[in-house]
Parts: sequence; structure tokens; C-alpha cells
Amino acid sequence: MSDVTSTPTAGAPGRPVLTVSALRRAFPVAGGGSLDVLNGIDLEIRAGEIVAIIGQSGAGKSTLLHLMGLLDTPTAGEVCFEGRNVAYLTDRERARIRNRAIGFVFQMYYLIPELTALENVFLPAMIQRSVPGWFGARRKARARAAELLAAVGLSERATHRPAQLSGGESQRVALARALMHRPDVVLCDEPTGNLDPSTKEGIHELIIRLNRDEGQTFVLVTHDPSLTQLAHRVLEIGVDGRIQEQVRPA
Ligand SMILES: Nc1ncnc2c1ncn2[C@@H]1O[C@H](COP(=O)(O)OP(=O)(O)OP(=O)(O)O)[C@@H](O)[C@H]1O
Ligand SMILES: [Mg+2]
Repeated sequence: MSDVTSTPTAGAPGRPVLTVSALRRAFPVAGGGSLDVLNGIDLEIRAGEIVAIIGQSGAGKSTLLHLMGLLDTPTAGEVCFEGRNVAYLTDRERARIRNRAIGFVFQMYYLIPELTALENVFLPAMIQRSVPGWFGARRKARARAAELLAAVGLSERATHRPAQLSGGESQRVALARALMHRPDVVLCDEPTGNLDPSTKEGIHELIIRLNRDEGQTFVLVTHDPSLTQLAHRVLEIGVDGRIQEQVRPA
């Protein structure tokens, strides 16, 4: 259980933020049939938690994270955000949750090649702004993006474009971008997969600090034992497409 005592941005600590029930996801296979990846997943992520999701390559971790981030639609079962079944929301309401309440760090980064590191962090957050006040908002957004790049150790790379960044640097830009709009829940797919131990340590400290000081909830898909160490709970997806909480010594 979480020992976070600060007031989270998303309400009282321990309140369910994301709930998944009997979730299934199958993909059609060329030539007929289907690949059943998730076979009835139940889980609850509570406000202020850091939850790690582990499992073998191909077990369905990214698939589950995309469903939890409202980026994909399940074959069966439910995803509830703050108690509301997202299947019954309008596209606009779902987009609002994705853009305001959830931050997503993709396994493949998806940085925009034409933009600098700094622009990749702040411009996506500007897209939803209306024209009045755009320039003032832009100035503030740039300043916040610069702070976030500093927090992930990349001030020196602010003007680099993605092709001029290493894999680990791109990954940190993607993390800064996900944090830009101060999401209640941050979903990270392998956030430290390409990082050396000391850079990784910096990212761990950032996650702990944001969780403790801002009450941000983190779901971390990872193969990295040092990242599972900092989680309050560890869930494992098996090759059978089901999930189990790992029992750890107190
Ligand atoms: N769009 C898709 N169409 C068909 N099959 C897919 C699709 N997306 C994923 N899969 C398959 O679903 C399974 C789970 O994929 P997923 O990306 O969720 O695995 P993962 O646990 O994240 O693996 P890794 O640790 O390698 O990132 C894989 O066998 C993959 O080939
Ligand atoms: Mg994956």
C-alpha cells in the first residue's frame, strides 16, 4: 500500500483512479483466428500509488497500458477512469481525459522529428489552447518545458532535434513531455529501458519526488528490477494473459 501522505492532485490518496475489469484484448490474425493477448484482467490503480507492471516480452504489457491510457478499445471488459466507464463517454470526453489527466510515455517515444527537444516537450501541450492568450501561454509553457528538461538532465540538449538525440535522451524528452500538463496519472512504458545506472537513478528520484510532492500516480511497465523496487505494488502479466500481484516481503 502507498505510504504517500501529501494531498494528491487527483483527490484523496487511495481513491481508485483507474479500474480495469474482466479486460480482454484479442488481435485478428492474418488467415483467420485471433491472438488472445489479455484474457480477463482485473486491476485497480489508486491515487498516489506507484504500480509496476512486469511480464515477459509479448505478454501484453504495452497492450494493457494503451487500454488504460484510452488509446485503444478492449475486445471485452471495462476501463473506468475516476469511476466512469470510458466506453460510455463521448470521443470528446475521452480526449479530454487523455489530454488533461493522463500522461503517456510510449515505448517508441514518437517524438516529432522537425521539432527541437524543447518544442517536443511544450508544443503538444499547446495544441488544445485557443488563440486568445496563446503567446502568454506559450511563454509559460516554454519555461515549464525548460524546467522539465532540466529535471531529466537535458538542459544542454534543448535545441537538438530527435535525430540528434541518443535513445536514452529521446526517452527522457518523452518523459518530460508526458509530465508537461501535470497529469494526475502518468503511464510509462519502459521509462528507463535505455538508461545507464546514474541517469536511471535521476529518473527514479524524479518519479519519487513527483509522487510524494505532487501526489502524481505512476504506472510503470518495466523489465528493470531497480524500478520495481520503488513501486508500492508489482503486478505481473503471465503468458496466459492474466495478471497477478506479486507478494513481497514487508
Ligand atoms: N496491433 C497488433 N496486431 C496484432 N498483434 C499485436 C498488435 N499489438 C500487439 N500485438 C501482439 O500482442 C502481443 C503483446 O504485445 P505487447 O506489445 O503488449 O507486449 P509487451 O508485453 O509490451 O512486450 P515487450 O516487453 O516486448 O514490449 C505480442 O505478441 C504482439 O505481437
Ligand atoms: Mg511493450
